[in-house]
Amino acid sequence: MKAKILVTGGAGYIGSHTTVELQNAGYEVVILDNLSNSNAEVIDGIERITGIRPAFEKMDMQDKEALRRLFEKHKGIKGVINFAASKAVGESVKKPLLYYRNNLVTMLNLLDLMPEYGVEALVFSSSCTVYGQPDVLPVDETAPIKPALSPYGNTKQICEEIITDTIHAGAPFKSILLRYFNPIGAHPSAEIGELPLGTPQNLLPYITQTAIGVREQLSVFGDDYDTPDGSCIRDYIYVVDLAKAHVKAIERMLENKSQDNVEIFNLGTGKGVSVLELIHTFEEATGVKLRYKIAGRREGDITQVWADPRKANTVLGWKAETSLADTLKSAWNWQLHLREKGIM
Ligand code: UD1
Repeated sequence: MKAKILVTGGAGYIGSHTTVELQNAGYEVVILDNLSNSNAEVIDGIERITGIRPAFEKMDMQDKEALRRLFEKHKGIKGVINFAASKAVGESVKKPLLYYRNNLVTMLNLLDLMPEYGVEALVFSSSCTVYGQPDVLPVDETAPIKPALSPYGNTKQICEEIITDTIHAGAPFKSILLRYFNPIGAHPSAEIGELPLGTPQNLLPYITQTAIGVREQLSVFGDDYDTPDGSCIRDYIYVVDLAKAHVKAIERMLENKSQDNVEIFNLGTGKGVSVLELIHTFEEATGVKLRYKIAGRREGDITQVWADPRKANTVLGWKAETSLADTLKSAWNWQLHLREKGIM
């Protein structure tokens, strides 16, 4: 058995897929989650896939003493992957304090306690949102940080700065900041996947829910952008590929391969795909026709962004491997699985 890793937000979408990959690679995982946007049954799904049930603590990291009790109970945690955060852009505009409190206080509590318990490595879930609309595409890690478009985006920027400042001040651990592009899809087993509460805000869950008939019609937010087909362009990355990058990041820090105590990597495919292209690839890959209409632009959307992932490819030794068609099929299989189970 390799090192013990704390995965905060481990019952969530990316956290659960990462737990699977960590366990497959031989790490022992402790999941912490307040289940504010997830479900304890996810732990069963992880166990069915890997044959191992991760330790699970239902708690809120805003409670520092509860976090301390977790470190006391699970002695010897060597690495932390911090997924626990609120992530809905629109909600963050309406409830900024909720976002600042939840995303920042939890980070501060973690950074306070990590040195006391000998934690050597921290992976932070950041986002390409820190680049805003980049001046140069594809965007690499040296691109300037742009003013955040939402409190959610701001919490990602601030957390990156807090971690960097703390390490530069001599904190005894390393960190890797992972800037995700647009994670989509589900585990090939269809045991775990994305399960948004209420009406999905993100494109892929909206597509699969429309395809299965839960939603009447998909709205394409704008076809008058300055892109080849007029719809917005993003870099859609398969969640299982993304999860594997976290294992690489933990390995890199715990095996002392980092070149710097804080490192940043873009996690994307390097390929930009428009909303309309994504819809058509989904239809081809699954054989399911989608009802959609062109709607007005969504406030705050940027026109186009895709990654230059070469640093992650060469330095981290990680590459996105799964095709978009296979990724979309996995999302559709997950939606079918939810239907079979009567969930949606
Ligand atoms: C946004 C955030 C990102 C965050 C992610 C998680 C920004 C710039 N990006 O990504 O930081 O990590 O949410 O929630 O703040 N679309 C439609 N119809 C829909 C839904 C979406 O056409 O019903 C389009 C959007 O206009 C966009 C694309 O699909 O062009 C992807 O949207 P979405 O899945 O919401 O992700 P982002 O906005 O890229």
